[in-house]
Amino acid sequence: MNVVKRCIYGISILSLASMNVQCKRDNKTADAPQEVTAAAVTIEKSAYGTTPKGEQVDSYKLTNQKGMEVNIITYGGIISSLKVPNKAGKSEEVVLGFSSLEQYMKPNPYFGALIGRYGNRIAKGKFTLDGKEYSLAINNEPNALHGGPEGFHRVVWTAEEAKAGDSAVLKLKYVSKDMEEGYPGNLTVFVTYTLNNDNSLDVLYEATTDKKTVVNLTQHSYFNLSSDFSKPILDHEITIDADQLVPVAATLIPTGKLTDVTNTPFDFRKAKKVGADIEAKDEQLKNGLGYDHCWVLNNQDKGARFAASAYEATSGRLLEVYTDQPGIQFYSGNFLDGTLPMRAGGTYAHRTGFCLETQHYPDSPNQKDFPTTVLNPGENYKTKTSFKFSVK
Ligand code: BGC
Repeated sequence: MNVVKRCIYGISILSLASMNVQCKRDNKTADAPQEVTAAAVTIEKSAYGTTPKGEQVDSYKLTNQKGMEVNIITYGGIISSLKVPNKAGKSEEVVLGFSSLEQYMKPNPYFGALIGRYGNRIAKGKFTLDGKEYSLAINNEPNALHGGPEGFHRVVWTAEEAKAGDSAVLKLKYVSKDMEEGYPGNLTVFVTYTLNNDNSLDVLYEATTDKKTVVNLTQHSYFNLSSDFSKPILDHEITIDADQLVPVAATLIPTGKLTDVTNTPFDFRKAKKVGADIEAKDEQLKNGLGYDHCWVLNNQDKGARFAASAYEATSGRLLEVYTDQPGIQFYSGNFLDGTLPMRAGGTYAHRTGFCLETQHYPDSPNQKDFPTTVLNPGENYKTKTSFKFSVK
């Protein structure tokens, strides 16, 4: 690594002082090149494209010493690529994605994107705060989905990079204006991606508001741990540490009750293949056209804890998800329909990717018995999810 890059990192670290990060190597002087070469992680910034409004979009490549590489673009905070070693040590792509900014700007089902201000559905796009009704765009008939047509997934975030010990850090910022997409309050949002040297990728979400609002942020990567995107994910073995499900009606809005997963296709407390029960005759599966539901995670009083995992036997890749959130949406890619282009030719067919979206339950602003998603001025929204990769 050259001196110029180290200087850039030095500036970033000063500006990231509020994140309480420290860099062991980067404060060394230029006369110790051998230590710089030994740095555990690297961050490379490159120009990715320009939006029609003339905004520059950058791409950041974060790598560690264990063969993991993540690319994040400032458009939507999208994880455009995530490469992880298989059991033979070969690092390969494990997320669905496109090959250009133009393609990410076309309508697509949120590939790799940051989702906000409210991830998941809000019934009929309406909610009430302090007696005032707010109306959101109906972008998923008859409901509002994932923060609206532009949401946080089609805006350009600002980015600051840093190295913190053995970790590569990318801190993204977006300010969502009062009434943007129909939500009250200026919301200042930070999402910090941290690639660690143990092959985990942390996503830290932080937000503050100047008016009472609702917030539910998540990450919408589609995984296929086999790295063969022509193959459906039905052989992946999923575990979800949840005794209960948030059942939904036909429009995927919660009924308001929580139900026990025992003796249903939704019991993933022991590892089970996605395909094992997905075609079972079951009202919830019918409503979701497969798995497209929020599970009520166990141990909600424990803070960050194990939530879910996915294992793919041919590659040996294991993904474990840890979070402090109450729920996780497991979506089996039911709406992928062979129309979206893969990076190097071909199209993404039905169920060739799955999502594990940590979050609050859908439609919480309208469900009095669900944990609250209200954020008040003076409060700090802060939540963290880790995606940890290994092989077995
Ligand atoms: C939702 C699905 C939706 C997908 C892409 C998921 O989070 O649960 O219903 O189709 O996002 O929009």
